[in-house]
Amino acid sequence: MVHSDAMADHPAEPDVEPPAEDAYRLLVESVVDYAIFMLDPTGRVISWNAGAERIKGYSAQEIIGRHFSLFYPPDDLAARKPWHELEVAAEVGRFEDEGWRLRKDGSRFWANVVITPLFEKSGRLRGFAKVTRDVTERMRADEALRASEERFRLLVQGVLDYAIFMLDPTGRVISWNAGAERIKGYSAQEIVGEHFSLFYPPEDLVARKPWRELEVAVDVGRFEDEGWRLRKDGTRFWANVVITALTDESGRLRGFAKVTRDMTERRRVERTLTEQRKLVGHLVEAQELERRRIAWDVHDDSIQSMVAVGMRLQLLANRLPEPEAAGVRKLDEAVRSSIGRLRDLVFRLRPPELDRHSLAQALDHYLTDVAGSWGVTYRLRHALDDEPSAESAITIFRICQEALVNIRKHARASAVEVSLTSVDGGTLVEVADNGVGVGAGVDTAAGAPADRPAFDHFGMIEMRERAETAGGWWSMGEGEGGGTVVRFWIPDSSGGEP
Ligand SMILES: Nc1ncnc2c1ncn2[C@@H]1O[C@H](COP(=O)(O)OP(=O)(O)OP(=O)(O)O)[C@@H](O)[C@H]1O
Ligand SMILES: [Mg+2]
Repeated sequence: MVHSDAMADHPAEPDVEPPAEDAYRLLVESVVDYAIFMLDPTGRVISWNAGAERIKGYSAQEIIGRHFSLFYPPDDLAARKPWHELEVAAEVGRFEDEGWRLRKDGSRFWANVVITPLFEKSGRLRGFAKVTRDVTERMRADEALRASEERFRLLVQGVLDYAIFMLDPTGRVISWNAGAERIKGYSAQEIVGEHFSLFYPPEDLVARKPWRELEVAVDVGRFEDEGWRLRKDGTRFWANVVITALTDESGRLRGFAKVTRDMTERRRVERTLTEQRKLVGHLVEAQELERRRIAWDVHDDSIQSMVAVGMRLQLLANRLPEPEAAGVRKLDEAVRSSIGRLRDLVFRLRPPELDRHSLAQALDHYLTDVAGSWGVTYRLRHALDDEPSAESAITIFRICQEALVNIRKHARASAVEVSLTSVDGGTLVEVADNGVGVGAGVDTAAGAPADRPAFDHFGMIEMRERAETAGGWWSMGEGEGGGTVVRFWIPDSSGGEP
């Protein structure tokens, strides 16, 4: 009965299947992108299609009857891989693998292989269907991508100056580089998986800053901030932070890249510099006030009383007989020349033109009186849109004064030219001489370049300090036709914060 049941089932099949089977075989045989062939239960090739011939290089005639282990490189053979694959396929119904296979000419290709066991109705193994694809190109592309990703990862990993790490969409740390470890003090092991709010001081947490930053990054793609962050040991550092949202092609948020830089040192330096500037500013201001006070005292008190003494001496001389009169006149001359010297002193302390007239007049007076007396020709050119503020004017005057004194002391020049021009909301000043040049005079043994002051000379340092304190700049260099040029710029309303 059992037998006849079987007989009743089977005969029907050939009637329906043959045409389909035929068509199917034709289809398989003509496929060229895949090697599709059959193995008998021991692994010998029993069918071969066009794709197999194309990929592996054997014709059907050459290969049918041969064992498929032929396609495997020696190390796979040593590991008995072909036989193992058939065993697994027979056992679990399918075997898939990627690996190197050999072509007829001995060259290798990277194959994707699927082996399926074929059973008869009775359950007896009839053989295997094997589908092989040449994926060398894809593998190479993957490999290249992997290699470039790996190189990039190593690069990021090794950067020490920046903490570079990734957050998942909720803000948990998922990668950590050497810079992050150096700056924040956590090892990758300690921090991966933790929420990045850990880096924020309590006041930021209360304000929900970390979460708001991620929201902004999601909204506009990027968030940048400077502020205090915490290290592992609880100390604070001043951080510059950039958070970038990472989305995939479909626009879905994948996480965030975070780059943090420790700016503590720079901030400290900037602060001390600002503090120093402020201090120098106050000192210079106090010094100018003091000089002006002394100048006015000397002018109003000493000079006035000496003028009075001079007048009395003159009266006296007129009334006295000779030779007493001549003696008194000598005294009067001595008093007068003292008055002259005191006026010079007053001028040097505080040019009265600066308070009463203009910067150009004060400079002109100075050039006439001073430069004139050392026998150099001088020229003053000025094209100012506006008169600079009182503080700017005194700063400019003082720098010119030192530059001119230097010319007298060091340049051995025969001509001096001072020019004032309105530029960029400030005054550009040039004091040029035709003397020996800075290189000849400056103590270059210390290696100080011409535009940097050597630190045992105070004049240059002071000129630069004054200019920078006023929010401007100062330089000194060689003139076009030799000699020296001191060039500086002072904003019109100086004395503010730099
Ligand atoms: N116009 C110039 N021509 C040639 N050399 C100059 C000129 N100006 C400055 N120098 C050189 O630069 C040096 C530094 O100048 P700086 O004003 O700083 O110092 P100093 O004039 O020597 O001294 P201090 O100004 O402190 O009294 C000078 O000693 C001199 O060698
Ligand atoms: Mg000097």
